[in-house]
Amino acid sequence: MKKIVVSGIRPTGNLHLGNYFGAVRNFIRMQEEYNCYFFIADYHSLTTHPHPEHLRQNVKQILATYIACGLDPEKVALYAQSDLPETAELYLFMNMNAYLGELERCTSFKDKARQNPNNVNAGLLTYPTLMATDILIHHADLVPVGKDQEQHLEMTRVFAQRFNSLYGQDYFKLPQAFSYGGDLVKIPGLDGSGKMGKSESGNNAIFLTDTDDVIRKKIMRATTDSGPVEMNQEKPEVIANLFLLVKTLCAPEVYDAFDQAYKNCSIRYGDLKKQLAEDTVKFIAPLRNKIEAILADDAYLEKVRRQGMEKAHESAAKTVREVRGIIGF
Ligand code: TRP
Repeated sequence: MKKIVVSGIRPTGNLHLGNYFGAVRNFIRMQEEYNCYFFIADYHSLTTHPHPEHLRQNVKQILATYIACGLDPEKVALYAQSDLPETAELYLFMNMNAYLGELERCTSFKDKARQNPNNVNAGLLTYPTLMATDILIHHADLVPVGKDQEQHLEMTRVFAQRFNSLYGQDYFKLPQAFSYGGDLVKIPGLDGSGKMGKSESGNNAIFLTDTDDVIRKKIMRATTDSGPVEMNQEKPEVIANLFLLVKTLCAPEVYDAFDQAYKNCSIRYGDLKKQLAEDTVKFIAPLRNKIEAILADDAYLEKVRRQGMEKAHESAAKTVREVRGIIGF
């Protein structure tokens, strides 16, 4: 039996290079070895993004991006969380066994509550029980997630274990975090911050849908410093981050040449950025074109979504039926 993998991504915007080199590249490898369920967490996005205008478009956008990046809908179940009504029912059961104290102590809850004190809704509080539902509904063995999601996964194991002991059955598996070790590259942002992510301005991230000109503009504006002053000096964080982008997107010789230039203080950041911009354009342009072509084919996208839903429904319906039985309905 192949191991079961589940992972979700919230549709709060387009995917960027950080998503690609973090999650998506791992997904592409995993689809060859495991029984994968990759979904778009559109219920989860309601905790912070409750409006319909972007929801529909973002779900389609991510679906198209996944396919363009190489996820094969014949191999994995690609679906939207909201297409699986069983999710709502299992979520209800999960909430009966989650304690207020542990939910309030969750780091992501505290962060969100601090960032947005006027919208501390119950969905935000129970975000971990919904995520546990996504995972347990398919009896996942492995969940490929980044560091920031490890606490949620730990809570998933707590909920699973608690359910098992409450009902005296070894029903839910305890899922483990998964990554291909050293291959998990954390892509830094263009503003010198440690992580590429969605920012207010959108200038910190390069999206897989950015046009050539936008990519060039963003990279040319990336944060740098005034340059090395001593031979062989250590790179400050902003510069080390920029070099990490070069390492990820440019040829090894190119990286080495700029690294050498940094060491002997002859580097010109403008040249480095130009090279990085051209190599990034070369990487993204074909992907962007594929995404656009897939997005233009509504019938195909609908078919993929339905096919994913059917596959996910099969395993979800079985779980919910069994859980109802265990609880005594
Ligand atoms: N919480 C995840 C994130 O913000 C998204 C998510 C929802 C997820 N449900 C999941 C990830 C289940 C893995 C498994 O990125």
